Amino acid sequence: MITAEHVGYAYRGNVRTVSDLSFHIEKGEFVALLGENGAGKTTAVKLIAGLLRPTEGRMTVNGLDTAKTRVSERAKQVGFLFQNPDRQICENTVRDEIAFGLRAVWGKKETERIRERTDELLEVFGFRGDEDPFSLSRGQRQQVALTSTLAPRPAVLLLDEPTTGLDYRECTRIMEFIRRLNETEGTTVVMVCHDMEIVLDYARRALVMAGGHLLDDGPVKEIFRDAPLLEKASLLPPQIVQIAGRLGGEFAGADDAQTLSSLIAETAKKKGERA
Ligand SMILES: Nc1ncnc2c1ncn2[C@@H]1O[C@H](COP(=O)(O)OP(=O)(O)O)[C@@H](O)[C@H]1O
Ligand SMILES: [Mg+2]
Repeated sequence: MITAEHVGYAYRGNVRTVSDLSFHIEKGEFVALLGENGAGKTTAVKLIAGLLRPTEGRMTVNGLDTAKTRVSERAKQVGFLFQNPDRQICENTVRDEIAFGLRAVWGKKETERIRERTDELLEVFGFRGDEDPFSLSRGQRQQVALTSTLAPRPAVLLLDEPTTGLDYRECTRIMEFIRRLNETEGTTVVMVCHDMEIVLDYARRALVMAGGHLLDDGPVKEIFRDAPLLEKASLLPPQIVQIAGRLGGEFAGADDAQTLSSLIAETAKKKGERA
């Protein structure tokens, strides 16, 4: 679905921001892109989105070279949620904002189809439709931007820190919606995220970047157990992995505990077996 072959990128006049990036992401994967500030994550997702063209190497999405694909063609394949929703929102009402993305991809003539899809999404997200996006909270604006991004059902959803600034409920709502898209519609998700708890809960695979390079690529659970790697990437593992690690091998479940309750349950079970 997404293939990066030795992709490099340098902003105009700058040294290389991203170097020798190679990976392959299959349809239906849920991948987290991790790394400290300045690691090159936003640049990498913009390269996948085709918003930036590699200065070296090749990026293909669904077999199409992003450097040779037209914007309109690309928009059919890929939805991109910016790090800051306010850079994305450009219409005066929530309804128009959602319809905007649909018009761009489906074409203006599809008025009936666009209206139906907009109505459906307004209902799902609980928006009236006539609100001015900028009168809403940051979390709600994030939801509007996300809704507009996923409205045309892109095969690939690129999310740059989708949960920043959201409260717990908003965050869960957005993430559960994305999970459903991934599981039921097979939408490929690539998400930049600083919240390791969310990464552990939702993503299955992680790409770890530092200094514009790819440090590692593997299942989230394995990445979070690799202390030297996390140290190198300046990342802290989620608390549950830290707790499990401190408890040590004595405690079963430490290896694949995802929640505190599963850790306790597994540990109790093992103790019972020993007794
Ligand atoms: N438009 C730009 N022009 C020049 N340099 C940039 C631009 N955007 C980002 N950079 C530089 O590229 C590096 C990586 O940035 P970015 O991809 O935004 O990292 P991340 O998203 O991991 O924080 C940073 O050193 C940043 O200063
Ligand atoms: Mg960024």
